[in-house]
Amino acid sequence: MRVTMIGTGYVGLVSGACFADFGHDVVCVDKDAEKIRKLEAGEIPIYEPGLEALVAENVKAGRLSFSLDLAASTPNADAVFIAVGTPSRRGDGFADLSYVHKAAEEIAEVMDGYTVVVTKSTVPVGTGTEVEEIIRRVRPDADFSVVSNPEFLREGAAIMDFKKPDRVVVGAEDERAQKVMRELYRPLYLNETPIVFTNRATSELIKYAANAFLATKITFINEMADLCEKVGANVQEVARGIGLDGRIGSKFLHAGPGYGGSCFPKDTLALVRTAQVYDSPTKIVEAVVEINNERKKKMASRVINACGGSLEGKTVAVLGLTFKPNTDDMRDAPSLDIVPALKAAGAKVRAFDPAGMHEAQGLLKDIDYVDGPYKTLEGADAVVIITEWDEFRALDLERVKSMMKTPIMIDLRNIYRPDEMAEVGIAYHSIGRPQKA
Ligand code: UDX
Repeated sequence: MRVTMIGTGYVGLVSGACFADFGHDVVCVDKDAEKIRKLEAGEIPIYEPGLEALVAENVKAGRLSFSLDLAASTPNADAVFIAVGTPSRRGDGFADLSYVHKAAEEIAEVMDGYTVVVTKSTVPVGTGTEVEEIIRRVRPDADFSVVSNPEFLREGAAIMDFKKPDRVVVGAEDERAQKVMRELYRPLYLNETPIVFTNRATSELIKYAANAFLATKITFINEMADLCEKVGANVQEVARGIGLDGRIGSKFLHAGPGYGGSCFPKDTLALVRTAQVYDSPTKIVEAVVEINNERKKKMASRVINACGGSLEGKTVAVLGLTFKPNTDDMRDAPSLDIVPALKAAGAKVRAFDPAGMHEAQGLLKDIDYVDGPYKTLEGADAVVIITEWDEFRALDLERVKSMMKTPIMIDLRNIYRPDEMAEVGIAYHSIGRPQKA
């Protein structure tokens, strides 16, 4: 099949490379000349394990190419994917669809023969119909179908998520489009991956419902963690105890500093706004959005309390800045709330992140960025783990203790055990677990 992917951001690039790897002919199109130039030179603009090799392999095999020119890439395409950004609109939290609309217009101008136009970007219910109307307006004679095919890719595990998904969701209103989509996902189909065929509105809503549900799960366990701290219970054991019930499931029950990233904060808010417009409020999701925002803001007070109520003149070491490990993405990362609050409380902050420092430097000013976890610790009054990178999981605790002025650790990801810290003599504060004296 011939595929055009519009947008070489995270979703477009991963999906384009994976479709090429399935054996399809894929052209990834973007308006950013610098980005296309870099991609053509084999440089990958995002940090995603395995992506560089996958792109290189498929370019070499002649199945994947990059272009600035939509007109030259689209004729004869069986499917054109819209994988452009849908950021939160400033002020009201609705998804900004201007890039999607623009892409629809441009596709309409250049499409040729029966084409399936697929929205891969996360778009509110009804966007497929809007895309259809735009194309119809620009090209009343065009032969096309508009399909919704949301992505469920986690950053850091995106290739695996694309190639071995729990399911693929396709919102198609006609048989012809379904056939093209089935062919595109043929390798998965043969692997017995469930492909959920449904109508467009349902497919669009599935994406938001999935993300909102996962965000709710995280927020629920975060609230349980707070309660655990009050009653002397252990949230990890609560999570295990409830997660073994197949109806609940064990995933996404890690208590932490609150969820961040490019999807959950934006998509939960967009769902809330859409539901309000339809006068069918999603009160649970409204609460999740509010609780999570507050939680991220409150995290710094854990550090302040652990340090005896004041950070004035103290040095705090920060391990991890990205919203989660294995990415350089800083969007809505808890660190963006925590670090400024530490500074506002009078602390000097010294930070390290394995991949996110470049991104972070533009967002978190006036902190010392150092090279490696141990360098943050020299003479520090406390260390706070914000992101659970693997390389922070096996620190030499004796060394940690000896390097710090006062060995106090605030572990917002529960990657250590209270008893091992007690043994070494580090005052250890984690999330939702009893503290060992
Ligand atoms: C998410 C969805 O998982 C994916 O299906 C969707 O397509 C895009 O959004 P992503 O944002 O890459 O993916 O990361 P994810 O691993 O889901 O984590 C999101 C946030 O939740 C992170 O800040 C993470 O630290 C937090 N989280 C996740 C928790 O705090 N606890 C958990 O148990 C799981």
